[in-house]
Amino acid sequence: ESSRIAHSIGTALDRFIKNNQDQFAYASGELSQLLRDIALASKVVNREVNKAGLIDLMGAVGSQNLAGDDQQKLDVLANIRFTRALAKGGEVCALISEESDTYVDLNNEGKYVIAIDPLDGSSNIDVNVSIGTIFSIYRRKSPAGTPIQPTDILQKGSDQVAAGYVLYGSSTMLVYTTGHGVNGFTYEPTLGEYFLSHPQLKMPEDGKIYSINEGLANSFPAAVQEYIKYCKDCQYTARYIGSLVADFHRNMLKGGIYIYPATAKSPQGKLRLMYECNALAFVAEQAGGRATNGKDRILDIEVKELHQRTAFYVGSKNMVEKAESLGIH
Ligand code: AHG
Ligand code: MN
Ligand code: MN
Ligand code: MN
Repeated sequence: ESSRIAHSIGTALDRFIKNNQDQFAYASGELSQLLRDIALASKVVNREVNKAGLIDLMGAVGSQNLAGDDQQKLDVLANIRFTRALAKGGEVCALISEESDTYVDLNNEGKYVIAIDPLDGSSNIDVNVSIGTIFSIYRRKSPAGTPIQPTDILQKGSDQVAAGYVLYGSSTMLVYTTGHGVNGFTYEPTLGEYFLSHPQLKMPEDGKIYSINEGLANSFPAAVQEYIKYCKDCQYTARYIGSLVADFHRNMLKGGIYIYPATAKSPQGKLRLMYECNALAFVAEQAGGRATNGKDRILDIEVKELHQRTAFYVGSKNMVEKAESLGIH
C-alpha cells in the first residue's frame, strides 16, 4: 500500500521523500533534508533563469573558473544560491563546485559531502536554450566534527548515496536517484512544488539518437569516428543541444548515446568527473543505462583532483556497448 502511494503520479516531492526515506541506509532524516534543500535552491535558480533576460542576468562576469570557462552571471549566481541553501540546511560539511577552485567548508557537523555543477550549459543561457544543475551526494568518511580529510572529498562515483539533476527546460524537472531506481518530478510553478511525473524511469536499452559535438570530429579518436560512421550508416538521428543535462535527459527518455571524447582542445575530455559525469553515470545505471570512459566504468574511476576531466560515453546500454566494441577510449 505505502509503495503504491509513494510511486503514484502527482505525489508531491516532499511527501515522496518522506515516504521513501526508510530506504536510506543511515541518517535518513538528514539525507531527506539535504534533498529538500537542493529542491528549494533549484526553485530559486529556476525563478532567476526564467527572468534572466529582464533582470540583467545574461552575459559573462569577466572572470574564469579553474576549468578555464568564462563564468556567466548565472553560473556565479546559481553557485551562490546552492551554496547558501546547503549552508543553511546544515547537512553538508564540504561542497565541491565547478565554480570554486577548492572545496568549500560548510557545517563541520554535517555528515554529507556534495559535488555540484550549479549551472550546466552556460553557453546556452543567453540564447534561451535549456540549461541544468547536476549534483552528487556522498557520506563523509571521517566522523562529523573532525577536520575534513582528502578521503572525504575525493570519493569515487560508486560511493555516491544520491545524485541527480535539474533541467530548466520547456518545463523544469528534478530527476534523482538514491540507488533505488530513478524518479523524475516536474515543477508546477504556480504552486511552487515538484510533483512526481516520471516514476521509476528506465532508459531504453536501444536507441537511435547520437549526441556529440561533431565540429570537433577531426581530432576524435579513430574508434569514435568509426562509431559515428556506424550511426550514419544506420541513419540514426543526430541531436546535440550543448547542455549536457538536456542532452542526457532526452536520451534517457528516448534512447540514445551521449559522447564527449578526448579532443585536441581537451586531451583528457572536456567534462568533469566529480560534478558532471559521476552523477549522470549513477542515474544512467539506475535507469538501466551504461556509462564509461571507454576503458573503465565511470563510477569506478579513481578521483585524484576536484576538477578532473574524463572522456564520457553514456546512454542506452546497447549503444554504449556497441561503441565499446569498436574500441572507443
Ligand atoms: P558548463 O556549462 O557547466 O561549463 O558545462 C559545459 C559542458 C556541457 O554542458 C556541454 O554538454 C558541453 O560543455 C558542451 O561542450 P562543447 O561546446 O564543446 O560541445
Ligand atoms: Mn562552465
Ligand atoms: Mn556542466
Ligand atoms: Mn556549469
